[in-house]
Amino acid sequence: MQPHYGFAGFMGKRVHLGVTGSIAAFKVIDLVRALQRADCMVSATLTEAARQFVTPLSFQALGASPVYTDMFAENPDADTAFGHLEPGQAADVMVIAPASANIIAKLAMGLADDMLSCQALAFPGPKIVAPAMNPRMWAAPATRRNWDTLEALGYVRVDPECGSVACGDTGAGRLAPVDDIFLACLKALAPQDLAGKKVLVTLGPTREPWDAVRFWSNPSSGTMGACVAMAAYLRGADVTVVAGSTGLSFPCDMAVVSVTTARQMYAACTDLWPNMDMGCLTAAVADYRPVPFGETKFKKGTSAGAGITVEFETNPDILKTLGETKRDGQKLIGFAAETGNPREEAARKLANKHLDLIAANDIAKTGSGFGVTTNEMFVLDAKGRREQWPQLPKTEVAWRLWDHLLLD
Ligand code: C5P
Repeated sequence: MQPHYGFAGFMGKRVHLGVTGSIAAFKVIDLVRALQRADCMVSATLTEAARQFVTPLSFQALGASPVYTDMFAENPDADTAFGHLEPGQAADVMVIAPASANIIAKLAMGLADDMLSCQALAFPGPKIVAPAMNPRMWAAPATRRNWDTLEALGYVRVDPECGSVACGDTGAGRLAPVDDIFLACLKALAPQDLAGKKVLVTLGPTREPWDAVRFWSNPSSGTMGACVAMAAYLRGADVTVVAGSTGLSFPCDMAVVSVTTARQMYAACTDLWPNMDMGCLTAAVADYRPVPFGETKFKKGTSAGAGITVEFETNPDILKTLGETKRDGQKLIGFAAETGNPREEAARKLANKHLDLIAANDIAKTGSGFGVTTNEMFVLDAKGRREQWPQLPKTEVAWRLWDHLLLD
């Protein structure tokens, strides 16, 4: 799992997983693990067909409890008489993955002829469905109609992917990536306190070309910004990421604008900012760009003597520009990665760039800054509140930043 998907802190939340008959059933073992890493408790129901592919023991061994099978099976972990009602009373979210054409039809009709369909019918909370089936079954008019019906019934639908499926056919029908199903679960469990908010996040390094093959840059991986974007996304925001060169991927319903240089990032951000409610600019933007050598590749020995001189020009300050053009109600967060005195620098930049909040860190400290999954932040806001946070996973830093911004 990518580091920016590794949110913890859903302690005590319970997810009930329904598994139906598909070769993709083995993949949801990873979903159980991901949910447990997020501190969730997991229970499961395996239909008769699911048990042809995976066993209850696989789920029990991973700590899923209870694991239900048939309506009338003895289950020492669960109340046998009312197992069909238990998830509806105990779990916060129900996810059916992989969901066969059969269970989708049953859910659409409200049938209740086995344990899983009864549990789904009796489940009052959010329900997520992630199908997996042969592309012709997925494309069949009856499945299309049933899938539409699930939307009308309020199910959260995680569409299957295109690709080759077990029988050798190719098309839409492969189970969505486990990461996507995991995020749908977290989103259903998270407070939706950023719902309806448009949020801009910049992340990653910029690259400033010098010749045809060389550029000036820095080692930012974009992880901190990716965590900020994901935290806002999980809390219901409509997130647009403006990303420098990173290998990170994002959910398909998040808008991502890829840029290379600071000037491209500036153009994208100034264009987007008037329509945003909030911005969090984490990108490690090159303050200077080399004056280009030219369109071709610089060759050794081209310039006389050993030394060459590279001249630099100043790049625009994106954060400062957005701060200066901020309208009433817009909120802006900046970052300050420092090697000197982060607290002093934070105070100076907060005022100078018209920010609502700034998060500063000392990149010389171990476990803080570039290339690690933790950060140790000093946080200062425009109301004068200041907090020193301990070393925390970047996902947790991101979550707290939005909490802090939402304080009155
Ligand atoms: O002034 P300094 O570069 O240290 O400020 C860091 C903050 O400003 C970060 O939030 C960074 O994303 C942003 N920044 C920017 N445009 C620049 C330089 C920094 O948006 N040219």
